[in-house]
Amino acid sequence: MHVPRTPFSVLSEDFAASPYRYFAQLREELPVHYEPGIDSYFLSRHEDVKRVLTDHDAFTTETFQVRAEPVMRGPVLAQMGGAEHTAKRAVVVRSFTGRALERQVHAIRANAAELMAPFLPAGRMDLVNDFGKPFAVQVTLDVLGLERKDWPQVAAWYSGVTEFITSLTLTPERRRHCLDCAEQLEAYLAPIIEERRRRPGEDLISALCGTEFGGVAMSNRDVTALVINVLLASAEPADKTLALLFKHLIDHPEQLAQVRRDPQLLGAAIAETLRCTPPVQLIPRQAEHDAVFAGTVVPAGSTVFCMIGAANRDPGAFTDPDTFDIHRADLGTARSFTAAAEHLSFGSGLHQCVGTAFARAEIETVAAMLLPLLDEVRYSPGFRYREAGLYTRGPLSLSLDFTPVR
Ligand code: HEM
Repeated sequence: MHVPRTPFSVLSEDFAASPYRYFAQLREELPVHYEPGIDSYFLSRHEDVKRVLTDHDAFTTETFQVRAEPVMRGPVLAQMGGAEHTAKRAVVVRSFTGRALERQVHAIRANAAELMAPFLPAGRMDLVNDFGKPFAVQVTLDVLGLERKDWPQVAAWYSGVTEFITSLTLTPERRRHCLDCAEQLEAYLAPIIEERRRRPGEDLISALCGTEFGGVAMSNRDVTALVINVLLASAEPADKTLALLFKHLIDHPEQLAQVRRDPQLLGAAIAETLRCTPPVQLIPRQAEHDAVFAGTVVPAGSTVFCMIGAANRDPGAFTDPDTFDIHRADLGTARSFTAAAEHLSFGSGLHQCVGTAFARAEIETVAAMLLPLLDEVRYSPGFRYREAGLYTRGPLSLSLDFTPVR
């Protein structure tokens, strides 16, 4: 009897459980995968993904109007183009680089020390839930000029917003829940934005309130959208990257020992973590005209998803791509956090991540604090590693045991 092979689907449970198992086959046999359930195309080869992200006329960010705007409460950076994009992006960049970044590194250190302290004497910490999540949100609240103590509430609202943007399928109930979260987040921000207009501080919300474009100040709607944009963009990948970095190092004890001996190697370890296991796995775009990839036509108007995890493991771009190697010659640590990056974990082109320097400083700072403290770090007994997420992806938890710190 002929048993038909189940057609590949990115919506299948098997793919969700372990997408990395499918990437080589996708790149070789299905480099342009059409997913009928969501009427979208998925591209997995490095050169195709790079082309989509950098050919801004042929592949636009139109898709964010339906994917993001309803929960961001206004237009986000990713949707903008031309002079408006350049001007507004520059305001955000200023808050996350240079002198502002130096100031933030002090706050990051103090915040991290406070958050990890309760777990050190016990010799056990879940790097995702005990530390990484509160840390990533609180650090972002600091930059925005929001109260750190509000983090559990803000995190609950923003996870609804994230769910809306990152779900490939959403039931009407979940959609309602996500929109409720967005409305509440907007209501929480409204009086704070008004207050910053009257009494500006050093924070990003004040900077956005003071920004004019074409002689007109940014409206509350525009400021709200960018605040939610930065909140999500900054907090969502950070705890994932930190946990993935520790997972890779624990799984490669010889590289862990090298990084412990020489913390200067942390930058390379973070870059390799991002290449090997990017926390942002999918980047959507819209094809403006018919486009041909590997002999397949993607029709004008289609949604195209760039598969970052697959592209970063393309043997055409990296030697021995499935191996985690902090010394790999074809990555380049300094380059990996700039527009010249070979990996695509920060995107590429005009909309490449504005937080690359900040992300590096943030993860490097806490990892440099944690590594000497977590002596003999290992997985807790009985711990079972699991990841989740198709759009953004990371460990559900990372329970670590280490020599208790007295
Ligand atoms: C490891 C951490 C991070 C990763 C992996 C990451 C990843 C990305 C990716 C893939 C994009 C491109 C999206 C697209 O092309 O549609 C992006 C854009 C963006 N990221 Fe990050 N990001 C990280 C940290 C941050 C931080 C700390 C900030 C804080 C400001 C940030 C703010 C942004 C913003 C505002 C954009 C939109 C830029 C634009 O459209 O011009 N990200 N990020």
